[in-house]
Amino acid sequence: MEKINAVITGVGGYVPDYILNNEEISRMVDTSDEWIMTRIGVKERRILNEEGLGTSYMARKAAKQLMQRTGSSPDEIDLVIVATSTPDYPFPSVASILCDKLGLKNAFAFDMQAACCGFLYLLETAASFIRSGRYKKIIIVGADKMTAITDYTDRTTCPIFGDGAGACMVEATTEDMGILDAALRTDGKGLPFLHMKAGGSVCPPSYFTIDNRMHYIYQEGRTVFKYAVSNMSDISAEIAERNHLTKEDTDWIIPHQANMRILDAVANRMEVPIEKIMINIHRYGNTSAATLPLCLWDFEDKLKKGDNLIFTAFGAGFTWGAVYVKWGYDGKKW
Ligand code: UT7
Repeated sequence: MEKINAVITGVGGYVPDYILNNEEISRMVDTSDEWIMTRIGVKERRILNEEGLGTSYMARKAAKQLMQRTGSSPDEIDLVIVATSTPDYPFPSVASILCDKLGLKNAFAFDMQAACCGFLYLLETAASFIRSGRYKKIIIVGADKMTAITDYTDRTTCPIFGDGAGACMVEATTEDMGILDAALRTDGKGLPFLHMKAGGSVCPPSYFTIDNRMHYIYQEGRTVFKYAVSNMSDISAEIAERNHLTKEDTDWIIPHQANMRILDAVANRMEVPIEKIMINIHRYGNTSAATLPLCLWDFEDKLKKGDNLIFTAFGAGFTWGAVYVKWGYDGKKW
């Protein structure tokens, strides 16, 4: 029997229209465009500010575009997996809402929680379902409405985050390409450094949790920064080495867009020029699980069949990893 690989066959994306720039942030908290640009590298971010709309709205827009670009009919889809830390509701899943909105009748669907590393875990999970031979066409979506959990009185976190969604179609192929290798890690010791204090089962919502602003992102930035740089760099080098990818063979590195200084550090460690790093942090900020597919969405026209891509990310948990993908088609699909 021929080996089945899992290949990305299309990309869709969505970012809200409203642009929150550094000038507007500087009117909310004591900061400046200069500080945000030098310490983080975000110029502006997109904000889903219409009342009553949540993560599934953006996920649906991205997935609809994906289905249209790949010419997929709803009946063909076997599985939908959404990575998010900001679901519309604690339950049911965003993925189940998507099934309804996209008119999928033959799919099962679930959400995955791996914070900013979600899209990496999605790639490996979808690839495993495809390699099993039982599933042929899978939609994966990284989507987050980070502004729903961002404290706009906290200058150490509010300039960082934005909203968005990116989606990919993953399908079976017998060609030697697609999602070829993954090195994924989780270490729960990261909990104290990056989490949301209330709203879960340990500390359900109450007047106390609201009064004490416990429903927002809590981050010890310096510690997270150090772990992010070393873990993303080490694991990217590991996956390159074990797949015999030299820096010349590596066409693109697609890193989680958390901080421009982290992207520079990963480029240095991998000894690849910055032109080979996909960067859109200045336009969208950190959209958590959406950063990696939104990079593909922005850079799709530059990609060629056979390009070697290394995705890498680091997030709450801690979660981190790297995924090696041999790209499956030329240019942009409309
Ligand atoms: O996506 C999940 C993974 N997350 C990450 O990878 C994020 C990793 N961490 C980071 O990106 C950075 O640590 C931050 C962007 C969060 C913070 O940058 P930093 O250079 O590590 O700043 P810091 O926390 O060490 O703070 C340096 C100074 C402090 O002042 P003092 O104590 O030295 O007087 C802060 O109060 O900068 C101050 N500061 C600010 N000043 C102006 C913090 N935020 C701001 C701000 N504007 N927005």
